[in-house]
Amino acid sequence: MQPLKIAVLVSGRGSNLQTLIDNIEKTEINGKIEIVVSNKKDAYALERAKNHGIEGVYIGKGNYPENDKRNDKLIEVLKAKKIDLIVLAGYMSILDRKIIELFRNRIINIHPSLIPSFCGKGFYGSKVHKAVLDYGVKLSGATVHFVDEGTDTGPVILQKAVEVDFDDTVDTLAAKVLKIEHELLALAVKLFCEDRLEVVGRKVKIKSSSDIS
Ligand code: GRF
Repeated sequence: MQPLKIAVLVSGRGSNLQTLIDNIEKTEINGKIEIVVSNKKDAYALERAKNHGIEGVYIGKGNYPENDKRNDKLIEVLKAKKIDLIVLAGYMSILDRKIIELFRNRIINIHPSLIPSFCGKGFYGSKVHKAVLDYGVKLSGATVHFVDEGTDTGPVILQKAVEVDFDDTVDTLAAKVLKIEHELLALAVKLFCEDRLEVVGRKVKIKSSSDIS
């Protein structure tokens, strides 16, 4: 099977991108990152891509101020690279409907909570962990899901919980969850690249899942 062509969309530090790069280099994932797209010019993720000989491009409000032009540029890049899978790895921007339609069930997002808790509009980055701590729940975690037209509403691929300790701060909780994010994102992309994810209504079936703990 040919490695799938992956586009990773980022906005910041890019530790999730790094996990994908590492797993691909170890041949754990049968994919190739064809392009990294950042909507922030100075995202460290672009640096990570460069360090591994991966093409990186900035498509943001700075160079494409009009929404339509920015979306068209993104679509043009994705089509030119013949992308099979889009991974949103800390991408802090809402994807245009046109892209969601073009890549139906071929866009994966990582969210730092157990969806459907602490997700949706306004729940991003450290705000998620602050809301978790303010509420006082005992469990949080990470979710990898397919992207649909809603915010964090698409079919769930994988989830894993972490315990929230009484003394946790936003930073300590974020660090615990980030570890899980890396694990789940790498596994979800691996499964996608092996054609082992089947969307059945709202549910995602993992084909031959005996090797997954
Ligand atoms: C992660 O916590 C992700 O879930 C959130 O933004 C963070 C990105 O981290 N949406 P990184 O850029 O991959 O290091």
